[in-house]
Amino acid sequence: MKSVNIQNLTFDLYMDAAEIASINQSLAQKIDDYYADKEDVIAIIILKGGYIFGADLLRLVEADIPAYFIQLSSYVDTKSTGEVAINQVNLPDLTNKNILIIEDIIETGLSMDTLLKQPLFNEVASIELCTLLLKPTELKAQLTVKFIGKSIPSDFVVGYGLDYNEYGRHLPDIYHLRM
Ligand code: IMP
Ligand code: MG
Repeated sequence: MKSVNIQNLTFDLYMDAAEIASINQSLAQKIDDYYADKEDVIAIIILKGGYIFGADLLRLVEADIPAYFIQLSSYVDTKSTGEVAINQVNLPDLTNKNILIIEDIIETGLSMDTLLKQPLFNEVASIELCTLLLKPTELKAQLTVKFIGKSIPSDFVVGYGLDYNEYGRHLPDIYHLRM
């Protein structure tokens, strides 16, 4: 079994790059179908975790969807702190735009819930969530997630943009914490 050590922890292979690529392909197809008859679609990639997934996904989507970024942070070590900091860079006017939020992973859903309540989304035409991974058993917020790559158990995962204290994001595969 392929495994990696990051700082003091050991992680075992959970999803390889081929599985991730095939999930991305199917998500891209769904996104193209869903937005086929819509104009003014804008993607907002959630940093930092979503940067690799967002880049891969938007290159598989055929529609030319402009990408912007919002940085959210709530995690310290392998636990969510429950407090979400939001930092947005150079967002355009979102009035009447169809917004697609691209996130690496949704766990409690509190980060997304906090984000969606921001006044900057008050005048949008629509807003949908796309996440590579979802931990359904940890979900606390009432969220509708339109595009879900894969539902996973509550184990802590790293790789493909997901980090453990900023390390492990570069890994092409996704690993879960060895118990
Ligand atoms: P939520 O607010 O509980 O849904 O947490 C969402 C954020 O926590 C994600 O965007 C990630 O940055 C981080 N996160 C949640 N689970 C994991 C994990 O297993 N590994 C790495 N980061 C995670
Ligand atoms: Mg994240």
